[in-house]
Amino acid sequence: MKKRSLVSISDFTKDEQIRILDIAEEFELNPIQRILEDFVVATLFFEPSTRTRLSFESAASRLGAKVIGFSSSASSSVSKGESLKDTILTVSNYSDIIVMRHPKEGSARYASEVSPGPVINAGDGSNQHPTQTLLDMYSIRKTQGKLDNLNIAFVGDLKYGRTVHSLSIALSQFNTTYHLVSPPELKLPSYVKRHIKEKNLTYHQYTDLQEVIPQADIIYMTRIQRERFSDPIEYEKVKNSYNLENNMLAKARENLRILHPLPRVNEISEDVDSNEKAYYFQQALNGVYVRQALLATILGVK
Ligand code: CP
Repeated sequence: MKKRSLVSISDFTKDEQIRILDIAEEFELNPIQRILEDFVVATLFFEPSTRTRLSFESAASRLGAKVIGFSSSASSSVSKGESLKDTILTVSNYSDIIVMRHPKEGSARYASEVSPGPVINAGDGSNQHPTQTLLDMYSIRKTQGKLDNLNIAFVGDLKYGRTVHSLSIALSQFNTTYHLVSPPELKLPSYVKRHIKEKNLTYHQYTDLQEVIPQADIIYMTRIQRERFSDPIEYEKVKNSYNLENNMLAKARENLRILHPLPRVNEISEDVDSNEKAYYFQQALNGVYVRQALLATILGVK
């Protein structure tokens, strides 16, 4: 994985993905290791972020790396009309690795092709979010003790939710049964469903959340992605489709854990937060360990 970009989760083999999770476990036990003191990490966020940017920066800081970057296009020369290529070529002169979020699908692949150094995709439009996928896999393995043979329920915006796309593809390596809960307008894209079928796995589609709760080992809630809708009226129609409340979990499996990539809007009530099945804030913390593992591995220190 040394010096390689991570744009799609499929850029790393199953064994490589597992290796990242194993190294992340080491960082969870011992998070402060100044092994990246000679490196500069650039975080280029052309789209808003709380968790991904700050957990990458926290991960880099805990490993002793210097961090440079920007958190919006407005604070970079992109606002003066600079191209993505020129931005990447310039920043790669100042850093050893670029972590980039961009609203356009395919932008991270393009950046990786023009950059002399490695690029990590921190989310490109509604396409992929592979580092979120690795921390989701870490969280699933940690809470279930395994990744194989699980019933995973994806709930909400399965059409535009990039975390769902990347994670669905990754989990197809582990004999997953998929329960896909969404409004009819926001079903999982055909290319992801085709991928699941090609692996001879089963998916079931629902509109009712209550129906899947007793069958699930993991419920992966997602926000309806308002920023991806071209027509605000269409967003208004689906924005409150799901709201998981504590009283809905009475018939859930003992081992059920609730994940959410966050931010949430109103799809999980705050009364769920104190339920032992709620795992989304720990999931966000796991992002630091996984991103430490990614930075250390791609920079060739692990
Ligand atoms: N999960 C996630 O990508 O969150 P942010 O948008 O806050 O980075």
